[in-house]
Amino acid sequence: MTAGERPAAGSRGPGASSGQRVADWFDGRLGTHTLGRKYLRKVFPDHWSFLLGEICLYSFVILVLTGVYLTLFFHPSMNEVTYNGSYVPLNGIRMSEAYASTLDISFDVRGGLLIRQIHHWAALIFIAGMLMHMMRHFFTGSFRRPREVNWLFGWTLLFLGLFEGLFGYSLPDDLLSGTGMRFVDGAVLSVPIVGTYLSFFLFGGEYPGDDIIARFYSLHILVIPGIMAALVVAHLILVVYHKHTQFPGPGKTERNVVGSPFMPVYLAKAGGFFFLVFGVIALISAVASINPVWSYGPYRADQVSTGAQPDWYLGFAEGLVRVMPGWEITVAGHTLVLGVLIPIVVFPLLLVFIGAYPFLESWVTGDEREHHLLDRPRNRPVRTSIGAAWISLYLILLAGGGNDIVATRLHLSINTVTWAVRIAVFAVPVLTFVATRRICLGLQRRDRELVSHGRETGVIKRLPHGEYVALHRPLSPAELHTLTGHEQPRPLAPGADRAGEREVSEAGPPGG
Ligand code: HEM
Ligand code: HEM
Repeated sequence: MTAGERPAAGSRGPGASSGQRVADWFDGRLGTHTLGRKYLRKVFPDHWSFLLGEICLYSFVILVLTGVYLTLFFHPSMNEVTYNGSYVPLNGIRMSEAYASTLDISFDVRGGLLIRQIHHWAALIFIAGMLMHMMRHFFTGSFRRPREVNWLFGWTLLFLGLFEGLFGYSLPDDLLSGTGMRFVDGAVLSVPIVGTYLSFFLFGGEYPGDDIIARFYSLHILVIPGIMAALVVAHLILVVYHKHTQFPGPGKTERNVVGSPFMPVYLAKAGGFFFLVFGVIALISAVASINPVWSYGPYRADQVSTGAQPDWYLGFAEGLVRVMPGWEITVAGHTLVLGVLIPIVVFPLLLVFIGAYPFLESWVTGDEREHHLLDRPRNRPVRTSIGAAWISLYLILLAGGGNDIVATRLHLSINTVTWAVRIAVFAVPVLTFVATRRICLGLQRRDRELVSHGRETGVIKRLPHGEYVALHRPLSPAELHTLTGHEQPRPLAPGADRAGEREVSEAGPPGG
């Protein structure tokens, strides 16, 4: 076809079957045949870790479906009403319409409680799935050129997901989520100079105001899911455009993709997997109670519940605030609440570091090449150790976010727990970095041993002259290929700097 020429409309003659005519009709108008021919044969590599992205996708779909059902019954209003419904212990209590409608969804709407539970469990699995999916891309280096932009799309999805969850669990306006709102207000107030103004702006007046639930509602059901849906589509378009990365193995190169075609193999698997994810979430939601707002009671600004934690994915932000000493200074007549301000600056920085990592790594290593074969984490000890240190920091802060629960469960003083977390925040990531790097180097050495001597058989043989030897079985060519199919540092020329030489051979390829 020359430039400007139009594609021919469906052109089968009158003898064509009705199925062919329907296909022609669509092809002539939507170009489905051409698109299908091009993309339905797209190759998907077979590896379990690719399912993590699918878990994110399916739980997002489940969130949208259940979310739409909840919108039919939820009233995003802070008007005060007196409850008079099926949950007798709260009858006659004054509460916001939002809280009353959540009670109605839980006790009076058919299937309401199950859908609420599915929505909440799906949110937890969605964010856990995103973190696992992100870690798998981090540790295998799939974010390298040309996928840096897709990494950023994914990272933005994670960032939005965290806030989408916060806005979602704030909607019922119960005592627990209201305590979280108080935390948000405190964080906003700590912003120097404009904090008070921002708080009045956000809450539509003095905290808690009458508007915050309706505002969060618009963000939760419209703005953020809209942006997320667009980003998911863009993310998947880029996956198709770049084609998948793959783990090294026989027949796999930087220039091909080995796997099964989208149609029919992958589509059948993916369809089945969707129902599996839906089924498991529905099962968990049917048997494990989550966010029983009726037992917390309605939010009142003069009350606070003990043992209040955010959902786990925001626990590390809570931890930062809880373990920070309550420092306050005055600068030019303005009070700076450093005890809150520093954590709310560090919290996004911890995430921004992850978002910027692909660019930082290629800047430090000077590696601008395209990569389509994945790394085995042990072959990149520095990156793997950075990832492990980041996870350890996240977990320590998560424990800090639940310092009261840790203290009561382990019968410790809360000050002991807080001090332990303060020390661990600095010490544990460093120790984790060092230990992980040593483990990676050890694993590399084991690989080298396997490649050069084969696997131990456990058989000891005595030679005629009396010597004992351990027998090794050589690896298969496929195993050898997998273990050696990574970039290997080139030995330095004789006479090169001895310190530099050790550095290169220990750290693997540059920037390893
Ligand atoms: C995409 C990610 C989403 C996440 C992470 C998320 C998360 C949450 C969470 C944790 C809750 C609290 C549930 C509870 O009461 O225990 C919630 C409530 C709610 N969500 Fe979502 N949600 C998402 C998307 C949506 C969408 C797309 C809609 C609507 C189209 C929606 C509508 C609602 C409504 C109406 C409520 C309040 C009802 C209630 O709490 O019972 N959500 N959301
Ligand atoms: C709504 C959330 C997300 C969905 C639905 C999603 C879905 C997917 C799917 C289905 C794939 C292809 C299969 C695979 O490689 O696993 C993929 C690839 C990818 N995702 Fe995500 N993802 C999400 C979030 C993220 C996050 C949070 C990151 C990282 C910060 C990320 C980074 C990537 C990268 C770099 C690829 C390309 C890897 C390759 O080609 O091998 N994604 N995503």
